[in-house]
Amino acid sequence: MTDIREFMTSWAPGDGSSMIAWSNRKKESLRGTATGKRKPPDLRPFDLIKAPHQSVGLLANPDMRVSVDSAAGPAPIFHRNIDFDTVIVQFAGNCRVENEMSVEQLAAGEVLLIPRGIAHRSIGDANALRMIVHLKSPVTQHMGEELCTSRTQFDIRRVGGPDYSAAAAAKPQTGAVIEKMFVWDEDPADAVQVRRVAEELIGVTSTEREKKLSAVKKLRPFDLFTDITGRKGPGPKVMSSAFSLMEVYNTVGEQFAFHRALDSEEFGLQFMGVNTNMSEFEEGRVMSPGDWFLIPLGIAHSVKDCKPDFRRMVLYSRFPFEVLAKPSMHAHESRFEVRENVLEPAPWHSEARELAAAGA
Ligand SMILES: [Fe+2]
Repeated sequence: MTDIREFMTSWAPGDGSSMIAWSNRKKESLRGTATGKRKPPDLRPFDLIKAPHQSVGLLANPDMRVSVDSAAGPAPIFHRNIDFDTVIVQFAGNCRVENEMSVEQLAAGEVLLIPRGIAHRSIGDANALRMIVHLKSPVTQHMGEELCTSRTQFDIRRVGGPDYSAAAAAKPQTGAVIEKMFVWDEDPADAVQVRRVAEELIGVTSTEREKKLSAVKKLRPFDLFTDITGRKGPGPKVMSSAFSLMEVYNTVGEQFAFHRALDSEEFGLQFMGVNTNMSEFEEGRVMSPGDWFLIPLGIAHSVKDCKPDFRRMVLYSRFPFEVLAKPSMHAHESRFEVRENVLEPAPWHSEARELAAAGA
């Protein structure tokens, strides 16, 4: 039997988890020892997508809704999300997001925060795949460019996926367009539709009366690391609200302890690297780029076999999730090859390689 520590957390608004207790456990007792209906299904989110600009719901709770989509080609409408914020996580490909405050180019590994009330549409290349997070409670804090320690580009190739090049070749509509207004508690099928002119919805809005300032923020989460994660505390915070938190991880080797959360659930998107998730529900689950996991309330979990290329995004929510998708919905069986091009390295890049060489 192998000794391992476990840390148990509660929820602290704006800060995410707060410590409650440390325990001394045996690792074998925390791996695959639980059964129950709350065991989440194994999903490959991007293989659930059936057509461009048709999002597929993954998770929902009273504060957060998570979906995935392909943004190949122009979106057929402008979205105006009235009473919730939108976070676009670009996983693969490139995408232009035209919105009332700006026009943003999103590359793989970048995140766009669009505050509530701001109309937007996306126009992506054939490979553009995203995770979309809608937040009822407003984002109150997000990382700034000044906190980035490195500059990284990602090249992500999908192997075995559908060909969306025909959709991507279409030109975005100019002139008359439709805007749909989405309200959190309204069935999207009942969304109000408004006749607009495309040019009147792009770059026309500012947070200031007299000068041009945009509240739409592009973030580079994987350039935010100051250290190797998984050795003591949590990863760097990308953004947070009263009931949610986004963090990123670059762990090498094995996480120092198991985590058990009493007042929050977490889910993660494996961005790069192959590793093994462990939890009371799973003795070991191999995670590859594009894979996704959910840790239900109260379930102890950890990760091992992380190489220097480990890049993972984790979102925490104060409320338990309903899982909206199931394995029978997979439409494809694809995998992703990810290459990282570090244009400006940070000290942790070489430290990660040294740790791995030393057998961390
Ligand atoms: Fe955790």
